[in-house]
Amino acid sequence: MSETRSLRVALLGAGTVGAQVARLLLEHHDELAARAGVPIDLVGIAVRDVTATRSVNLPAELLTTDAETLIQGADIVVELMGGIEPAKSYILAAIGSGADVVTGNKALLAEHGAEIFAAAAQVGAEVYYEAAVAAAIPIIRPLRDSLAGDHVERILAIVNGSTNYILDRMDRFGDSMEDAQRVALELGYLEADPTLDVEGFDAAQKAAILAGLAFHTSVPAAAVHREGISAITLADVESAREAGFVIKLLAIAERITDEDGLEGVSARVHPALVRRDHPLATVYGGNNAVFVEAEAAGPLMFYGAGAGGVQTASAVLGDIVSIARRHIAGGVGVGESVAADLAVLPIGAAQTRYRISLDVEDRPGVLAELAGILADRGVSVETLRQTANGAVTADGLATEADGGTATLVIGTHTARDAALAAAVEALSASGAVASVRSVLRIEGA
Ligand code: NDP
Ligand code: HSE
Repeated sequence: MSETRSLRVALLGAGTVGAQVARLLLEHHDELAARAGVPIDLVGIAVRDVTATRSVNLPAELLTTDAETLIQGADIVVELMGGIEPAKSYILAAIGSGADVVTGNKALLAEHGAEIFAAAAQVGAEVYYEAAVAAAIPIIRPLRDSLAGDHVERILAIVNGSTNYILDRMDRFGDSMEDAQRVALELGYLEADPTLDVEGFDAAQKAAILAGLAFHTSVPAAAVHREGISAITLADVESAREAGFVIKLLAIAERITDEDGLEGVSARVHPALVRRDHPLATVYGGNNAVFVEAEAAGPLMFYGAGAGGVQTASAVLGDIVSIARRHIAGGVGVGESVAADLAVLPIGAAQTRYRISLDVEDRPGVLAELAGILADRGVSVETLRQTANGAVTADGLATEADGGTATLVIGTHTARDAALAAAVEALSASGAVASVRSVLRIEGA
């Protein structure tokens, strides 16, 4: 036993998550002590405004605006302020003063994780961050510990609850993108800056963390290919449903090999077509899910609440207890492994199937021309469906009312993203193509 006295916890932030963490630490003090083997004492809570009204009544004597002093002398610093600064400086100060750290700050870890983990490794401190990805869902520890002996091949994850809520409303209730976003905003699902959710920034930060853990490689958020959901229309969602798919914003981390045979990691966030019989298709509302494909374990699905004060506090409390137990057991905890140090490959190296919707001229030779454009770039057609535009007569036949155009939906075999992008550019430039309605990747097939 290296440590038997009580452990002093300094909490930075008492907002949505921090207030719940404080409440649970205080209310469950004795139970947590029994589980951890040592009393875990909340010694102070740093906030911006000690007079602010909070969702939880917290003892006034614990509140302070002096985070620097609070950090000194703490055994565990729990950072739940969010943002880059001063969170980063406080975490580095905590590590420097010999404390272990718990944080839910995905933005900070995705951008400065390598620096923080290196500082912790130097002094044998722990940085735990179960809440940073998919909040209440245990996924960091399973990837870091439980699957440490396996070979993860791919992760497909729904890690942004608000965009999942928006796409789900469009799919199940027929809302337009604008209406679904308005409801999500009214319900408080979207971040203060909705762009962080809608344009995929939040999911990209989480994808970087998942990819780094799964492939033992440092993956900065800037290296994650990112596309949001703002271009998705109700027509895309309905067309996907007719073809047996649902559109989800996926965070993908995948071990791939590029055209030159270089093995690396693909980390990307984009809307994707998911078959309706895939487990991720049944992730409704604001829920999150992480689908892991590992060589030995096979497919695993982790599902649950990806946000919320008390739900996220569960993950934070788990980290605090884990750290407390190590204080009792002694020794160095589980550090971050970047042993594989794989290259993070560009989106062009990724390979998947695609569904391309085009408005085309409905005249002889068009299909052959478009098939030729795809073939020339190494993209092979798997399925083809043409619907004549314009009015439909009583016998179900289309008229020429639309001036002889048709909508063509092309499903491809697996192709490289770079080849597909080149093919789409050439299709757009073709005189036979009036417009490219959408290009969506098919994932999880
Ligand atoms: P909130 O904005 O609700 O709370 C932030 C807290 O930090 C407030 O109490 C605020 O003080 C305090 N704070 C901010 N800046 C400072 C500062 N400079 N000095 C001292 N205190 C400061 O954030 P959340 O609780 O929602 O999120 C916290 C972290 O958890 C973030 O990193 C977030 O990404 C992560 N997270 C959140 C989830 C959620 O569902 N909310 C889910 C998963 C992770 P004051 O109250 O006085 O303003
Ligand atoms: N904005 C995030 C989401 C909150 O919608 O999932 C949890 O990180």
